[in-house]
Amino acid sequence: MDAFPRSSSSQLVAVACAPYVTRQDFAAYSVDQHSVWADLVERAFEELEEQAAQEYLEGFSIIGLPRDRLPNLEAINARLEPRTGWNATAVTGFLPAPAFFEMLAARRFPTTTWLRGRGALEYTPEPDIFHDVFGHVPMHAHPIFADFLAHYGRVCASIGDAGVLEKLGRLFWYTVEFGVIRQRGGIKVYGSGLISSHGERLNVMGGHCAIHDFSLDEVLETPVKVDELHKLLFAVSRFDQVYEAMHEAERRAARGRL
Ligand SMILES: [Fe+2]
Repeated sequence: MDAFPRSSSSQLVAVACAPYVTRQDFAAYSVDQHSVWADLVERAFEELEEQAAQEYLEGFSIIGLPRDRLPNLEAINARLEPRTGWNATAVTGFLPAPAFFEMLAARRFPTTTWLRGRGALEYTPEPDIFHDVFGHVPMHAHPIFADFLAHYGRVCASIGDAGVLEKLGRLFWYTVEFGVIRQRGGIKVYGSGLISSHGERLNVMGGHCAIHDFSLDEVLETPVKVDELHKLLFAVSRFDQVYEAMHEAERRAARGRL
C-alpha cells in the first residue's frame, strides 16, 4: 500500500488549488437544509442497506456520517484522516482538471458545500454535498480504494495528453462514479453517481443495465455518456481489481499504449 503523500503533495495543493479551496460555514446551514439532508439520507438508506457495497456501509459508520443533519467536514475528517490519510476539503465548485488531480494525489477530496433544494431531491446538474460527501467519502475509509484514488490523482497529474486523460477518465467514471461490485449474492453499488441517485440505482438494480465483469480493456474502450441512464457497467469482485487496474493503466500510459 502507498504511504500517505502528505508533505510534498500538500505543497502542490497549496499552489494549484488555493483559489478553489474554501471553508464550510456550518453554522450558516438553515434548519430546512438540515431537514433536506435528513430526508435525502432516509430515502436513500432504505435501499442502500440492501443495495450498497459492504465497504460503503462500513465507511459510512467509520466516518460517522450523520443521518439527521448535514455533515460537519471537520468532524468527518477527524475520523477519516487517521484511517487512510484522506480528508474532504471544501471547494467553491468545479475544479480544473490539474487542480482536481493534484488534490486527489494529496488525499484531499474536493467537496462542494451547497445542498440541493427540496424541489430537486433526485437530480442536480452539478454535484452538491450530498453527492460529494454522502456519495463519495465513505469509500475513502477503505484502505485499498483510498490508495487507488490517490494513485489515480498522482498519475493523472503527471499526464498532459488529452487522449490519455480521456481514457483514464473512463476508469474513474466506471469505478469512482458508477462502480458496482458482486457480493452478498448480487450486484451492489459503490460509485457515488449510483449511491446518490435513486434513478441511477433503480436503472441498475432493476436490471435495465448490462453488467460485465470488470475488464480494464473494456472500461478504457467504453465512452462516457452523461446525458442518459447507463446501458453497461462493470462489476469488480474485490477492490484490489480497481487498484491493480490503475497500476496497469499507468504502465500502459508510460509505454504510450493506453
Ligand atoms: Fe462524483
